[in-house]
Amino acid sequence: MKKFFLTTAIDYANGRPHIGHAYEKILADVIARIARLSGKDVYLMTGLDEHGQKVEQSAVRRKISPKALCDEVADDFKSLCNTLNVSYDHYIRTTDKYHKEFVQKCLQKLFDAGEIYKAKYTGLYSLSAERFVQEKDKINGEWPADYGQITEITETNYFFRLKEHQQWLIDYIETHPNFIYPTFRAKQVLEFLKEPINDLCISRPKERLSWGIEIPFDREYVTYVWFDALLNYISGVNFDGKTVDDYWPADYQIIGKDILVPAHSVYWPIMLNVLGYDLPKTLLTHGWWLSSGEKMSKSLGNVVDPLECIELFGPDSFRYYLMREMNVGQDCDFNLDRFATRYTTDLGNDLGNLLSRVVNMLHRYCGGIIPELGEDSPVTEELRSLWNATKRSVLAQCEILAFNSALGDLFSFIASINKFIEQNAPWKLAKSSENKDQVKLKLTLAAAAESIRLAALLLAPVMPSTVPKILDALGTNPEIKWDNLDFGNHLSGKTVVKNVILFPRLETNS
Ligand code: ME8
Ligand code: MG
Repeated sequence: MKKFFLTTAIDYANGRPHIGHAYEKILADVIARIARLSGKDVYLMTGLDEHGQKVEQSAVRRKISPKALCDEVADDFKSLCNTLNVSYDHYIRTTDKYHKEFVQKCLQKLFDAGEIYKAKYTGLYSLSAERFVQEKDKINGEWPADYGQITEITETNYFFRLKEHQQWLIDYIETHPNFIYPTFRAKQVLEFLKEPINDLCISRPKERLSWGIEIPFDREYVTYVWFDALLNYISGVNFDGKTVDDYWPADYQIIGKDILVPAHSVYWPIMLNVLGYDLPKTLLTHGWWLSSGEKMSKSLGNVVDPLECIELFGPDSFRYYLMREMNVGQDCDFNLDRFATRYTTDLGNDLGNLLSRVVNMLHRYCGGIIPELGEDSPVTEELRSLWNATKRSVLAQCEILAFNSALGDLFSFIASINKFIEQNAPWKLAKSSENKDQVKLKLTLAAAAESIRLAALLLAPVMPSTVPKILDALGTNPEIKWDNLDFGNHLSGKTVVKNVILFPRLETNS
């Protein structure tokens, strides 16, 4: 059976994990968890991009070997994944032996097929971008700031033919509307492809850079880091008895908008096509997390450290905030006050307090045992039909990657459970000795408990460590399954557990 294969970008080993890295992994993990709960055989891959000049230079500055630096960084990134509960199946590092061998095999194949040629080239080189740049890359007559210093160099290198494949790529994008998500990004790629593209320089002379994968047909050169890095998506499912065909083509390749053009939308499809592989089904391109409207950067000192946020709010709340706020594909401003508000209102008040109130009332009025829900009573009908509508819309929105509005709908449902309790006022019913009030009391609490259980199940992909605690408090099996999401008599007879605090109050300095 073919796997549902998802990849993230592999992170550069020359920096520390920031919120953009965390977000991309959480997004991938949420999609992976939904697919698993829907019965798919999922394989999620993430990893580290270790070669290139910047890594070599960082290592020199630190007076350690590049490999030792990468080992440290790999530990940092993996531990972030673990802290965030990212359920990756494989963590690839581009210094892994199977990866290096695969890159060399591909280079040799392309060289033998005449797709790679040697040439002398004089051009402008950007050290920061680690590539040759052109006058047309200037914006309003200026080099983009992230190009750093530009110097003219003359070098003999190896080039990968792109020009010949330009028209094929344009046709492919135009006839495959799902290839690039969101659609407006496909338009940007087509805009880029209106100008003739240059062949890609895929080698670096060792005298200038030695930290890379050696070119198999010329030992004086190493491979350009992007050419090496992109191939991780296939090398990572092509070793240790795995077969490419069981995974490839990927269902989603998740990347940020800055690495769509040209790396993932021009180099990558052409590389795949020439090597004889299908193209990924969808390049899922997300936007940027900004800080007060600006790009986060080390020099501006406005980089959000995910570990500090997790320290403050816990990993599941962090996942919730990121998924609730960002409209996949658009940019979004990261705001700590807004995060605190969401934590206190959505999570603490609406969800956390709801659970503890219902559990406490079940103790007070029902001896801690959840009563039977019964068939179509008018008392429970309202929540049942609200649930059915919520389930439909949440699942439909997950299907189209609209996780922010899916969570919006789910939390509206949670608000409705709160309202339902207010309206039925179990504390008043409990004081009445009339049989019909006693029946209504039990039905109200049973319906509220069942509604919380169902909402929790749909919340599980985003809050995977909180949801088992909710199920546990309701006395039911904490295992998360989506095989039956019907509103029904699933909790009758279960013993609830008191005093579960899902979202502790934030400490204030006042
Ligand atoms: O680009 N908001 O690595 P990287 C959201 N090694 N996403 C962001 C972001 C932000 N502020 N900043 C970065 C690389 N990202 C290459 C990839 S793949 C074969 C090689 C995203 O560590 C960025 O868009 O600079 C990318 O998808 C990922 O983080 C890793 O960025
Ligand atoms: Mg980057």
